[in-house]
Amino acid sequence: MVYEYDYLVIGSGLAGMSFALKVADNARVALVCKTSLEEANTYFAQGGIASVTNLEVDNFTKHIKDTLVAGDWLSDPAAVEKVVKGGPEQIEELIKWGVNFDKKENGEFDLHREGGHSEFRILHHADNTGAEIQTSLIKEVKCHPNIDIFENHFAIEILTQHHLGKIVTRRTQDITCYGAYVLNQKTGNVDKFLSRVTLMATGGVGAVYTTTTNPLIATGDGIAMVYRAKGTVKDMEFIQFHPTALYNPGGDRPSFLITEAMRGYGAVLRNLNGEEFMHKYDSRLSLAPRDIVARAIDSEMKLYGSDHVYLDVTHKDPEETKQHFPNIYEKCMSLGIDITKDYIPVAPAAHYLCGGIKVDLNGESSIKRLYAVGECSCTGLHGGNRLASNSLLEAIVYADAAAKHAQEHIGGYYLRSDIPDWNDEGTTHPEEMVLITQSIKEVNQIMGYYVGIVRSDVRLNRAWNRLDILYEETEKLFKISKASREICELRNIINVGYLIMRQAMERKESRGLHFTVDYPHPQK
Ligand code: FAD
Ligand code: SIN
Repeated sequence: MVYEYDYLVIGSGLAGMSFALKVADNARVALVCKTSLEEANTYFAQGGIASVTNLEVDNFTKHIKDTLVAGDWLSDPAAVEKVVKGGPEQIEELIKWGVNFDKKENGEFDLHREGGHSEFRILHHADNTGAEIQTSLIKEVKCHPNIDIFENHFAIEILTQHHLGKIVTRRTQDITCYGAYVLNQKTGNVDKFLSRVTLMATGGVGAVYTTTTNPLIATGDGIAMVYRAKGTVKDMEFIQFHPTALYNPGGDRPSFLITEAMRGYGAVLRNLNGEEFMHKYDSRLSLAPRDIVARAIDSEMKLYGSDHVYLDVTHKDPEETKQHFPNIYEKCMSLGIDITKDYIPVAPAAHYLCGGIKVDLNGESSIKRLYAVGECSCTGLHGGNRLASNSLLEAIVYADAAAKHAQEHIGGYYLRSDIPDWNDEGTTHPEEMVLITQSIKEVNQIMGYYVGIVRSDVRLNRAWNRLDILYEETEKLFKISKASREICELRNIINVGYLIMRQAMERKESRGLHFTVDYPHPQK
């Protein structure tokens, strides 16, 4: 099949859906996602969305400073200012789309606080803000007459001059995106989606690791596609590990998150002996930025030879705890943990990618007619480490910027009708799926063991050599196989793993989320 659209939007999280809604009034939009509309990191967001709304105590300068400090001074100040100042207007937009943020009896927002924030500024919907946002936006996109929804459609490659037989290298100046090849998982056919503008909104990379809070769709597909098309990808070494995922061995993958808002509410971290330990690591204690707390937990776990530490909220009023964190209460209860009486076992888990497809202040990538928004993009906002609850904010502010910029320029772009169809001549279905599933597990293990919270040259080199073998095997297999979600995801996690390692090897310092025993922090 060949489809023709003004806009091709790949991804149905906050980034993709909000962009689609913003451009759809005057254009035809294809909204493509690889499973269901719901399955996205956005749906799982708990804590909320940071924005300056309580002007009695808070202001933009404080939010900007908190973001720069958390980012270990590697953030792009222009991106930080753009996101922080653009926040309140986009919050209004979310509310117009039906998102319901919790309010106090006096009608003001009930604001939470999380690690690294100097003020209470997190808007939330109990402890399932993401589900509230995702379901509200799904209602909107479903009833928009100009948005066609393609669920179970897996984007494999973006279309560029390469598909017209031209040689494209990383030095080519005018690489241009004409759409994408997309696998319809129901028919097994690879369809051609031609577009005047394409948006990459494919989310994060958590599933590159075994232990992650991300849904397993988070395989970095958009980043891998853009990298293979010779686009620029940046800051991949900055993988954020959330300090407090529920420790449930042999249980959930993804790991269930215990929101940082619980520490903002007063919960404290304790080691296996029940002793508080954060004072040994940072004066901000349990509310220090995430990189510091995750490393402190990692260090305590190594000290005790344990797989977890504890989060203690038992000193707080039980009814209030249940009211603020109803989903966490229920989830823990289902495992026999009454959080109002028992400590919660927690451990760090891969959670967020600060880097990704490099974009400018309009969300435009190094490839023409291709924008990237949300977790797959690198705007420069997060620098070396993301401030909690800044990612939903970044997604919505940059979706707005990209929509405005694309609308101004789309008039000059035409559909390319000379791109050939997907060619799978001579390919067959792999006889043994285990070859793929086992390789996925191997990538996960390599990344977890050698490219985790604490790194070293030796570990990175070992990881590199191991991954290289998997890369060679997988590329051979890909060439002779019919396209499937499994083989494409394996290829993508190998690509993304390679980028994380390479950029980690290139950074000869410990900075933000990249901590290596071989190089100190420049200020220490
Ligand atoms: P996603 O919401 O992940 O959407 C990605 C979309 O891309 C999906 O629709 C998927 O199907 C599609 N896709 C991917 N690959 C392909 C492909 N090859 N073909 C077609 N479609 C594809 N951030 C905050 O600011 N506050 C929070 O409280 C918060 N809590 C979080 C809690 C959890 C448990 C997690 C996992 C993350 C949390 N985050 C939070 C981070 C935040 O949720 C994400 O960064 C953000 O939602 C990403 O949105 P997105 O639109 O970029 O991507
Ligand atoms: C959380 O609720 O702790 C997650 C917030 C975030 O990832 O920003």
